[in-house]
Amino acid sequence: MNTLAELYREWEAQYDANAAQAQRLSDEAAQEAYASGDTWAPLLNIFTPGEAEPLGLPLVTPLLRPEDTLLDVGAGGGRIAAALAGTVEQIRGVDPSPALSAALHQLAAELPNLEALDAFAWPPADFIGQSDVVLSWNVLYYVREIEQFLDAYEAHAGRLCIAVLGERAGAAPPQSLFEAVRGEPFAELPALNELIAILAARGADYELRRTPRPPVVEVPQVERLRRLCMVTEGSPEDTILQAELERRADDDPKHLNSMRTLAVVSWVPPEAAS
Ligand SMILES: C[S@@+](CC[C@H](N)C(=O)[O-])C[C@H]1O[C@@H](n2cnc3c(N)ncnc32)[C@H](O)[C@@H]1O
Repeated sequence: MNTLAELYREWEAQYDANAAQAQRLSDEAAQEAYASGDTWAPLLNIFTPGEAEPLGLPLVTPLLRPEDTLLDVGAGGGRIAAALAGTVEQIRGVDPSPALSAALHQLAAELPNLEALDAFAWPPADFIGQSDVVLSWNVLYYVREIEQFLDAYEAHAGRLCIAVLGERAGAAPPQSLFEAVRGEPFAELPALNELIAILAARGADYELRRTPRPPVVEVPQVERLRRLCMVTEGSPEDTILQAELERRADDDPKHLNSMRTLAVVSWVPPEAAS
């Protein structure tokens, strides 16, 4: 069995391998966007409140109480905060992406029980005050220093920590498609299984619930799949991607899904448990 220190190192190694692959395979425009520091800006409309209920929401709301204060770490443009504003007393949200944080601030101006904090990447430099519940939704895969992240996460939670995540990152492409198009396997980001191993080794008494992820119904999907497979429109890889999609057109749409389920992991922070 791996020690906790080894699990942290493996998490970081997976993160680094993914970053190196993305750096190697992305085109110049994507690399420039990466270097500019706001890779999330082009995805603003996905992470702002929409009409569809966030997948997994019915698994999270029973964990919350009307009198709870909640901190949403990696809140994006407020998609989850908007969905939970009617369930808890008060929400504070923070996101490091300037574009998403600006959207979160705009939403906070409309939602009386939402406060948008100035943008920063978790963990904070100093303690920012406890909330009853600390939550993150599809965020942990994008965090390299998971030990420091979880330490601060637990220190800021008075009653419960919640992490919503998949068995693969949201940005993960369908594996077989990626391999067919790019000629190498996708370097997976750390996700649910890696988190569970770490929580168990930290001694957290976690609960886990899952909800199936329905197939993506976006048609055509080519834009999304180009992004996930790091393919530039009109490039030789784009020709392979189009041919692969043509070849798989009659397959079950699930083959273009990146994850099968979304999981809600919850645990009592050590201070509250003792
Ligand atoms: C996939 S989006 C999810 C946004 C939102 N939670 C949702 O589900 O709509 C991932 C978010 O994590 C944020 N993020 C990445 N690293 C972070 C960190 N260290 N601390 C806080 N947020 C982070 C990104 O800026 C991005 O908004």
